[in-house]
Amino acid sequence: MKISKRLETIAKLIPSHSKVIDVGCDHALLDIYLSQEKECECIATDINQNALDQARYNILRSHVETITIVNTDGLEGIDVSDRDIIVISGMGTATIEHILEGKKLSNRMIIGTQTDFEDLRRYVISLGYYIQDEKYVEEKGKSYIIIDFVRGKREYQEEDYRFGPILKKNLAFLLKEEEKTINIIEKIPAGDIDLEAKQEFLKELENLKNRL
Ligand SMILES: C[S@@+](CC[C@H](N)C(=O)[O-])C[C@H]1O[C@@H](n2cnc3c(N)ncnc32)[C@H](O)[C@@H]1O
Repeated sequence: MKISKRLETIAKLIPSHSKVIDVGCDHALLDIYLSQEKECECIATDINQNALDQARYNILRSHVETITIVNTDGLEGIDVSDRDIIVISGMGTATIEHILEGKKLSNRMIIGTQTDFEDLRRYVISLGYYIQDEKYVEEKGKSYIIIDFVRGKREYQEEDYRFGPILKKNLAFLLKEEEKTINIIEKIPAGDIDLEAKQEFLKELENLKNRL
């Protein structure tokens, strides 16, 4: 089965025979792929019944029997064990925080997002996780990051929160961030308070690049 590069990147991080809780599964393509290719058992949740109807149709068509569909807000009512792998992808950081806030979580969470990477890292690390891996994916002109969080503690510097302890050494990521930041700076009027912060960010990116 063919899935997007972004979902494939998530799937590659998940070992065969895992139990996966895919929050915001939408059409359940990741769950079907994981069931077929890696013999995973999946709980596919979504808050939107239309998405779940399509998910159910896709699952039936694929003849997989190891996916349970649940209509819920995030992890509400889901029995999470330490060994499960929670996947959250395709949502903003505020929604991700809402989903994780005050919940029983597993030892490993793979979270993909498009924006507010720094806030996401700070929040999940504050819940008692460290970053085991980070992937950067470009697809159809958009860039995504996927962070593999594991329960435990590591010491992080400011630049690790801002750019990622692993992504700060990834040239493709740094170049893309540089391009995006230059584009933003070009649109900020002179004297605007955001300008200085963006210029500082650009300088930090250049320093990281020079260290490679
Ligand atoms: C952009 S889609 C991403 C689908 C898939 N996870 C992916 O990465 O391709 C976001 C999905 O999250 C669902 N969603 C948004 N907020 C949610 C919440 N609080 N709980 C469960 N699902 C949610 C939406 O209904 C939608 O199906």
